[in-house]
Formats: sequence, C-alpha cells, structure tokens
Amino acid sequence: MKPKVLIARRIFPDVVARLREHFEVEWYDENEPLTPAQLQRRLAGKQGLFASGTEQITAELLDACPELKAVCLMTVGYNNVDVAACTARGVLLTNAPDVLTETTADFGFALMMAAARRISESEHFLRRGDWTQWRVDLFAGADIHGSTLGILGMGRIGQAIAKRGALGFGMQVIYHNRSRLSPEQEAPLGAQWVSKQELLSRADHMVIVVPYTPESHHLIQAQDLALMKRSATLTNIARGGVVDEDALAQALGEGRLAAAGLDVFEGEPTVNPRLLALNNVVLTPHIASASVPTRRAMCNLAADNLIAALTGGQVLTAVNGRELAA
Ligand code: DGY
Repeated sequence: MKPKVLIARRIFPDVVARLREHFEVEWYDENEPLTPAQLQRRLAGKQGLFASGTEQITAELLDACPELKAVCLMTVGYNNVDVAACTARGVLLTNAPDVLTETTADFGFALMMAAARRISESEHFLRRGDWTQWRVDLFAGADIHGSTLGILGMGRIGQAIAKRGALGFGMQVIYHNRSRLSPEQEAPLGAQWVSKQELLSRADHMVIVVPYTPESHHLIQAQDLALMKRSATLTNIARGGVVDEDALAQALGEGRLAAAGLDVFEGEPTVNPRLLALNNVVLTPHIASASVPTRRAMCNLAADNLIAALTGGQVLTAVNGRELAA
C-alpha cells in the first residue's frame, strides 16, 4: 500500500502528479490557507505533509497525527514549525534552501533600488495625473552605486545580495551576522563584519535577511532606527516580525529614515495601516522568491524530499536530520 500524504495548498499540478506516482495523495487545491482544525482533520492518518510557510505545525497538531513521519516545506523559512516538537516525535522536517537564493536576492536588490530611487511613489504620482512639469528635484532619491550596503544576516541570500552590490554596483559591503564569513568568502566581496550598531549607523541601504526566530523578533526597534542616517533606506525580505513596524512607520513618517522596501509583514496578509498610509515605503506581498522557475524548483525540492523521506531515499535538505539521527 502506498503511504498517504497531504498537499496542504495549491501547487503545480505536475508536481502533484509526481507525488501521486509514490503516494496516495490528498490535495487541498486552494490558495486559502487551511485553518489549524482543517489541517488536523485532513492530516489524520497521513504519513507525509507537503506544506509551505503558512501552515502552523504545532505540537498539538503532531500529537493529533501520530502516523506523521515527514513534513516537507517548499519554503526556506520554517518559523511556522515547532522544530523541537517534530524532533521529539521523530518527525523529519525539510525546507527548501538554495533553489531560491538568486531569485530572492534579485528581488531584495530590486526592492532596495525601488525604495532608494522612489519608483513606486513616482509611478503613483504619474498615474494620478499629478505630473505637470519636469523639475530638477522631482523624486530625487539616493544613489545605489558607490554607496554603503548594510546586510543584516549574511547567509546564502545575504551573500548573493552582497555579490550584486559589490560586483555590480561598486557598493561597499558591511554586514552583521552571528558568525563571520571566512576571509576567503569576505575578500571577493570586500565585505566587512561590523557590530549591529555600526551597521545601522554606516549603511546607506540596509537589507534584512535574518531568519525569524524568538531571538530575532523585533531585532530592529525604535532605538535601532534612531541610529540610521536620515538619508538611509531599509529593506526587509526576511520576516515581518524582525522589524517593529510601528517604530518603522514612525521613523518614516517623521523623515528620520528616507524610505523602506518591505516584502514581509508581521500580520501578513494584513498590512499595518500606518505603513499603508506612507508614500516613502514600497510594499509587496511576500513575493521575493516568486519567479516561475524558482517557485517550481521550490515545489520540486519539497516533493523530492517527501519522496525520499517516505521511500527510504536520501533526503536532500533536512532541518532536523542530525537531531533525529542522534
Ligand atoms: C521562504 O521560502 O521562506 C519565502 O519567504 C517564502 O515564504
């Protein structure tokens, strides 16, 4: 008998077809996220779960689904999963790193540029019919080339952004991360590790790419924003909860920070109304990894992991593999 799996959201049908070759599949073919109760009901009796970053995988859910052996996410972030609870119950968790690195870095860079060069704000102005004359200072923003790029979180995506900044735009790269890159990794980027305070005070454009954990909750608060240059921009493609959004809205509204680019929000898909009311923030709906090839690659990696996990194969990107093996 084939193992039973649940696919907890709408994905590419050909990925579903691949999974059907190996499993008895229940496919929740909707974009509306399953509520915890719906997820629990559908997952009962299943050995595998294909999920994303929106389903809450809690100890309670795992206790209600004792047959579950593997949770395979198509996202790199897994802050929606109680990893310790998975490990304690022998449930393998996999995520989808690497395949989205370059696409997400492209988007982070684009968002930073849009904020610095006031692209959204000026487009709205034009569409409203407010453009009546050319002016020397019309939507004059900040330069990217030759400026200082500050990266908070220097994992794969942070490094890919640093590469774009250093090699493509002649930016000076400074970064703050729990662990420093090796000199061999820093050298080609001219990247310099600095304290968080120095990062905030020196960056012309700061990009946030840290994983969201209890430690990184509201890592950027009012006192941190106060260290930034008035001319600086802040871009967040990590998770909304890393930044205190009210403090950010306050700083942007008072002109203590020039602009922001935000792809992620603490209460998403609800967006803080104070941010919505501001012109100097570019807002996008959590789409940094959303190119068609990359979203396909993310789904296929999760499917590969699920197939391997439940058929005795080699799992590619386990989150708690080492802990489970111990
Ligand atoms: C990820 O993969 O974590 C992206 O943020 C999409 O949720």
